[in-house]
Amino acid sequence: MCGIFGIVKEKEENLGKILIGAAERLTYRGYDSVGMATISGDKIDLRKDVGKVDTVAEKFNVAEMSGQRGITQLRWATFGAPSQVNAQPHLDSDGLMVGAHNGNVVNNIELREQFIAEGLTVRSENDGESCVHAVERYVKRGYETIDAIRLAYGDLAGDYAFVLGQINDDKLYAMKKGSGLVIGIGEGFTCLSSDLPSLLPLTRKIIRPKDGEIIILWADRVELRSVIDGKLIEREPELITETMDAVQKGGYPHFMLKEIHEQAQVAGELLHLLDGSAEVEILIEKMKSARHLYFIGCGTSYHAAMAGSVFLAQIAGRTAIPVLAPQFISQFAPAVGHEDVGIFVSQSGETKDVLNALNAAETRGMEAYGLANVVGSTLTQATSFCLPLCCGYEISVPATKTFTNQVITFLYLAYRMAGKDTKELDNIPALMEKTLEMVEEQVKEIAADINNWEDMYCLGYGATYPIALEGALKLKEITYAHCEGMLSTEFKHGPLSAVSDGFPIIFAAGPEDTNLIISGINEVNVRGARTIVVGEENASLRANADDLIVIPESNPYISSLLAVLPLQLLSYHMSVMRGYDPDFPRNLSKTLTVD
Ligand code: M6R
Repeated sequence: MCGIFGIVKEKEENLGKILIGAAERLTYRGYDSVGMATISGDKIDLRKDVGKVDTVAEKFNVAEMSGQRGITQLRWATFGAPSQVNAQPHLDSDGLMVGAHNGNVVNNIELREQFIAEGLTVRSENDGESCVHAVERYVKRGYETIDAIRLAYGDLAGDYAFVLGQINDDKLYAMKKGSGLVIGIGEGFTCLSSDLPSLLPLTRKIIRPKDGEIIILWADRVELRSVIDGKLIEREPELITETMDAVQKGGYPHFMLKEIHEQAQVAGELLHLLDGSAEVEILIEKMKSARHLYFIGCGTSYHAAMAGSVFLAQIAGRTAIPVLAPQFISQFAPAVGHEDVGIFVSQSGETKDVLNALNAAETRGMEAYGLANVVGSTLTQATSFCLPLCCGYEISVPATKTFTNQVITFLYLAYRMAGKDTKELDNIPALMEKTLEMVEEQVKEIAADINNWEDMYCLGYGATYPIALEGALKLKEITYAHCEGMLSTEFKHGPLSAVSDGFPIIFAAGPEDTNLIISGINEVNVRGARTIVVGEENASLRANADDLIVIPESNPYISSLLAVLPLQLLSYHMSVMRGYDPDFPRNLSKTLTVD
């Protein structure tokens, strides 16, 4: 969701290709418009529009853009419709400054009214433009740029990161308030970006600024200053050792398929880490002594939290309340206290809804821990500690490997809470491999058969209920068809009336719930539904369902985890067959940093 990148060189040179490359690397976050600006001497060159990076770059010949400094921004519309004027970067009133932001300035409308009343030229409805005018208004009152930025920080409510350059200068300025920002230091240049992967092809020497810090980039040095008093902040750069292989497709047509096939490997790495983790021991003790336990997340991460809650009850006899992050604020936060423990679950560690819930929890003194994939993300810094999901980069917008590693982490915690030997879990990676081998061809055939339907259901029970919700979310997210996830027993309480001839209904059948699932199958079969069941080999399931997608035998908990793999594949193949790009579904973004 929105991404910014800026670079400072020693002297004017071609920056177009660097800006296009950086923008391409940010596309996985989701966007509808893109823009580039270069600055040299007293000139600002700004080119931007709605559309894909390559289309806009070709239309405006961005590759030829040169300058001593450059900025690119990918916009995912919140304030103002996707349009050329709302695309970023934005100029100040007189074309002396140019800037772009990532995030959400929540008092944008009020600020625009103030700027217009002060005589500034406001061209768009976009909050990125407000960031530029917020600095401009203080520069016009005679403040130095750095002080104007500090004052602007106080005026701009919300969570964002912002980069700004001005003519007749040699620096870029930036500030961070709630949204991701990473600085890169290279040979003869410095740069910054909304995320680390987009910097890695340029440099491995990085600094992670914190909220409330102003960043000044020269070609050969970087300064961090406190927004409160302008004082210099010392921070040593870190060296990143991760390879770039992780952000390539590695021979797969899409990141999603690659990431589905990486699940066994990252599950093995996670289990290894959990076995040796001192933090797991602390978390187990905290969970044991908690008055109430909450597992909090959004979207796919919430489904993992639900799975965790089922595991904890069934394996360890403990209650954990799984809750959607925004609902936690209204329904539970008012009643939590320091005796309660929350585990906040997020792939990105930047989801605003989750961070808002965390804030509400911490305000009440609740103990907060996290499960996050992006190390260094806001969630990892704002909780007592986060268990890492160890998935490497997940580029595809639909979460796959991070979901299975979230579920495995909860399963591991449930085993440990129950005092059960976790050795059995070491079979998971091999079982996942085997599942993919067993189901892939059959799933492709079923995808082709049901792909003309725009409406379907995905049902589960017990440990497979969250899996059914997750399967339905994947289908909706990348096929754009409607698929509702539901507890199988609820289907007869209303949705049954939707069933017509051939209507696809997918069941995730746990090995101990087959009788119940068979009742569900028969209820809809007699009304003409096409029933597709994911489950272990079972003669009754085979006799009753139209299709049985067989997964390897394990136990009910591992079985529920394995059941999600065919559902991920089903949604992937249906999406591709429909001609969509499953990695970048329309209107969506990988990292949702807005309310
Ligand atoms: O980064 P998070 O796990 O906090 O993201 C939460 C949801 O936005 C995310 O899981 C979303 O539902 C996925 N794209 C679904 O595949």
